[in-house]
Amino acid sequence: MLLLSSLAFFTALATANPLESRQSCGTYTVPSVPGGFTTRKFIDFSTATAGQNTQTVLANQGLYISDWPIPDPGFIPHTFTPNNVNLVNGALSLKVSAYSGSGNVISSEIFTDEDIRYASVRTVLKSSGVPGVCEGMFFYKDGQGEIDLEILTSTTLTSSPKVAAGFWTTNHNLTNGDKVSSVHPFGFDPSAGFHEYRVDWSPTATRYYVDGTYIGQLTSLIPQITGSWLWNAWSNGDDGWSAGPPTTDSTTLIRSIEIYKDYVTTTTGTVCPV
Ligand SMILES: *[C@@H]1O[C@H](CO)[C@@H](O)[C@H](O)[C@H]1NC(C)=O
Repeated sequence: MLLLSSLAFFTALATANPLESRQSCGTYTVPSVPGGFTTRKFIDFSTATAGQNTQTVLANQGLYISDWPIPDPGFIPHTFTPNNVNLVNGALSLKVSAYSGSGNVISSEIFTDEDIRYASVRTVLKSSGVPGVCEGMFFYKDGQGEIDLEILTSTTLTSSPKVAAGFWTTNHNLTNGDKVSSVHPFGFDPSAGFHEYRVDWSPTATRYYVDGTYIGQLTSLIPQITGSWLWNAWSNGDDGWSAGPPTTDSTTLIRSIEIYKDYVTTTTGTVCPV
């Protein structure tokens, strides 16, 4: 009797805790993707505090900080620098420094250390609101392929002469330069609060969601290769893209990153829709 009631108690505890029940998932499934993902990785910056060692905390999560210049012929070059990636209270901050008018635009970027092929990647992010910055959440394999979800802070809510308002989704074949893009209007000001931006990448489509609502998909030029996922904030002054560079410091905040990965075509074990 005692044994039975303790068992019932622990069973109740396990079901009451969503994290516990998720850990027992054999396959995480997402809509319109056959099969699913066997691994969930959750990186939570909501409990971060300013002054923590950013590089160490990120490395413990399999995330690294870019530290190199991007020449960008025809535009202002930018430099990804570790100094512009910092834990603050409750978030990870990606900074683009106010541009002095000469030299490179000092920018920021982090990336996964692991090879990912097909995934559902969910980033809870607050856009900077300072014009002249591109905020990217993307897959990239040098010389091969790229999947982008990008916010351009100059044109979030209002179009410029060259750039339509909204956020951009793109598949890009880096071998031959083929590219397919679509722009989706925001239903809110992305700099006023945190929102979840999600890319579901399967062998046949890249599908995009905001705050769990399906926004649209691209079904061509789907990368079929492994690479890193990256998050960055930068500017090159291109009035056909990022605009800027910013004249005051720009801060993009990431509260969490959730990655479902290790794609399987057939589900196994307990199936958890996510
Ligand atoms: C990218 O382009 C190369 C060269 O044309 C081609 O072999 C490859 O299949 C393309 N990949 C995708 C995903 O379109």
